Amino acid sequence: MQVKMAGNRSLWSVFVATWTFVALSSSNAASFTPFQPPSYPLAVRSPYLSAWLPGNLASSLPSSAPQFWFGNDLTWSVIVRVGGVAYNVFGVTDAVDGTQQAALTDATFTSTHSTFTLTAGDGTVKLDFFSPVSPKNYLRQSLPFSYLTVTVSGTSDNVQVYSDIDDTWTGQSTASTWSHTTNGTTGVYQISPANPVTYAESANEQALWGEAVYATRPSDGSTLTSASGPPSTVRSQFVSNGKLGNSYPGWTSGGVVGFAHDLGAISGSSAVTFAVGHVREEAINYLGAAQTGYYRASYPETVAAVTYFLDDYSDAASESSSFDSLIESSGNSAYGSNYSDILALSVRQTFGGIELTIPNDSLDANDVQAFIKEISSDGNVQTVDVIYATFPIFYVLNADFIRLLLQPIFTYLDQGSYTLAYAPHDLGAHYPNATGWNSNTEEAMPVEESGNVILLTYAYQSASKQTDLATTYSSYLQKYAQYLYDNGEYPTAQYSLNDALGKLANQTNLGVKAAVGLGAYNKLSSSNAKYASAATTFADNIYTKRLGTNSGGNYYTIQYGVEPWFLVFNNYPDILFDLGIFPEESYNATSDFYPSVRSTAGVPLDGSLQWGQTNWQAWVAAIAGSSTQEEFISDLHAYISNGLNTAPFSDRYWVEDNGDNKAGQSYTFRARPTLGSHFALLALKGANIWS
Ligand SMILES: *[C@@H]1O[C@H](CO)[C@@H](O)[C@H](O)[C@H]1NC(C)=O
Ligand SMILES: *[C@@H]1O[C@H](CO)[C@@H](O)[C@H](O)[C@H]1NC(C)=O
Ligand SMILES: *[C@@H]1O[C@H](CO)[C@@H](O)[C@H](O)[C@H]1NC(C)=O
Ligand SMILES: *[C@@H]1O[C@H](CO)[C@@H](O)[C@H](O)[C@H]1NC(C)=O
Ligand SMILES: *[C@@H]1O[C@H](CO)[C@@H](O)[C@H](O)[C@H]1NC(C)=O
Ligand SMILES: *[C@@H]1O[C@H](CO)[C@@H](O)[C@H](O)[C@H]1NC(C)=O
Repeated sequence: MQVKMAGNRSLWSVFVATWTFVALSSSNAASFTPFQPPSYPLAVRSPYLSAWLPGNLASSLPSSAPQFWFGNDLTWSVIVRVGGVAYNVFGVTDAVDGTQQAALTDATFTSTHSTFTLTAGDGTVKLDFFSPVSPKNYLRQSLPFSYLTVTVSGTSDNVQVYSDIDDTWTGQSTASTWSHTTNGTTGVYQISPANPVTYAESANEQALWGEAVYATRPSDGSTLTSASGPPSTVRSQFVSNGKLGNSYPGWTSGGVVGFAHDLGAISGSSAVTFAVGHVREEAINYLGAAQTGYYRASYPETVAAVTYFLDDYSDAASESSSFDSLIESSGNSAYGSNYSDILALSVRQTFGGIELTIPNDSLDANDVQAFIKEISSDGNVQTVDVIYATFPIFYVLNADFIRLLLQPIFTYLDQGSYTLAYAPHDLGAHYPNATGWNSNTEEAMPVEESGNVILLTYAYQSASKQTDLATTYSSYLQKYAQYLYDNGEYPTAQYSLNDALGKLANQTNLGVKAAVGLGAYNKLSSSNAKYASAATTFADNIYTKRLGTNSGGNYYTIQYGVEPWFLVFNNYPDILFDLGIFPEESYNATSDFYPSVRSTAGVPLDGSLQWGQTNWQAWVAAIAGSSTQEEFISDLHAYISNGLNTAPFSDRYWVEDNGDNKAGQSYTFRARPTLGSHFALLALKGANIWS
């Protein structure tokens, strides 16, 4: 081992530090609050700024690389010197000789923070990964950056903090360019692919255009230095000297861009904050014109935007404490702490699949829209049923997001190239190309999406009391209501949002959607007797006359008259909006039924499957009686805390052993924004609770 030490530390103190580390790690296992999740969100703000730490790597945080949502490694490291001894704290996969490993003592997460505490010799180091979620402040919400605050506590005559990233954040590591600039005291690195391809993604679904950003500024009296170059050189410089040489050689393969803060002597605690980000000026291709981030109306230049993001830190942090407390307390008081834990792990992932944009040419902040990526299941942009699954979180936190997500679809319809009698499924096969389907070749889900557009419009209206969407787009809503009226009771063979089931005719869940959709339309259009009575007739046939149930009406079948049973969830809006379409008896019956078909790790989506979806389990839990509800919540909680998974919260998992798959393991989906569905229960307690 190369002993390279600054200051006047002796070999003996290195020995003592090593000994302390060994003693701590063997006797004190780290604590995980509220539990160790499948993956910790670290910097999760957009489909292209999505850094995670698999839960099982938390204990080896000092030597473990974070990952992009897809699963590929990102370089992001922290090294802290305490009294001249360098401790690897985070992400150092190749330690510089002479460095020690810090030891994790605890890890926690809230709705907006993932926090890790480590022991580093005489010091305690806290890493606070903070991705703001600000449902009402569109500027804050849209800034494509995330904070990392490193707090060192203890008493030491000399403390320094180092951190770096590299071009793994750009999606193209074969050739990059980078630059270092300053704005006042703020240092900013920008790393770009050498050969950007606008709107294109790498095989790992990272953006092949735009730039990764890393920035920081002096705080708590720190002196900031920086340097770029090979990690061995830059990190060794820090390990040896506690500072960097302020030299910026150009990009080399594997090279890093690093910052070092010299905090000097500390007594108590001192903190420095970094901002990591991924910026695309041309963010979305919307019908052939560029949309850019909403924040660009205020900060069109990246350096100014990230400088402002650091300026905003204390306000954003204080908002996040109130926000985290609200989610925690409202979830907990309504349904217990298992439920509030599920919400806390769902929030960043949901908002991290969505971007707020404005036109790139006008930069008109009044012309805002939101775009959502169907991450991991197929990459579609603006999938209507994904918005449908997600809407409860917006209903609870800010229903205006429902309008912002529907707006691009209505504008697309206005453009006139989509002429079908039913609503479109999405705006493009792959994010960020929201270019529509001019030849009508999209993946059609006629009853599904027609019902969804109506239900989403009504969700927005009922929560916000705004009638603008219903008024402006009444012709489409009327058209889709008529479509459901004509085609909704006996849907022809077609896909529903559970397209894994294939094209089935007479899907009960679709018939239920048509009934509930017509009921919602009746409210939207302020009483339309024809649709209101069709809604009741459909429901009467499907449930009371047993068209879509077994003969005893104990459960719904997957298709009319065809077994097995199906976890029907499209009746949730009936309860949320108090439409009174399906009889109370139907809710009581299914509530009694589901516990009887629960498998090892939960209730599957239907009686023939070994997997379930957390989205629909949460929707069904919301409309079930209390003991069934508790069982669903408990199963969901057990699934995300069972230690069997490492992918960002998958909303699909095995409820039963199936070959190599064990009950409680996730099933391919990862990091989907659809986790907003978990707010279905809380939505029943009221809309727009965040002010
Ligand atoms: C978006 O469209 C552009 C231009 O056709 C293409 O180069 C790019 O690969 C597309 N992006 C994705 C993610 O499919
Ligand atoms: C520096 O950042 C501020 C925002 O805090 C911005 O107004 C200003 O334009 C920036 N200057 C440069 C040169 O980027
Ligand atoms: C987006 O706006 C920037 C700044 O005005 C401009 O340079 C760029 O060409 C625009 N991109 C597109 C695709 O319109
Ligand atoms: C749908 O169900 C109805 C009523 O059971 C039946 O008459 C019809 O044939 C079914 N449609 C298809 C395509 O199976
Ligand atoms: C449904 O269940 C509730 C709670 O057990 C009960 O009060 C109600 O009478 C039931 N309704 C019907 C129609 O069976
Ligand atoms: C909370 O969830 C766990 C599974 O993670 C379960 O064992 C426990 O019973 C649940 N608590 C309540 C009150 O339902």
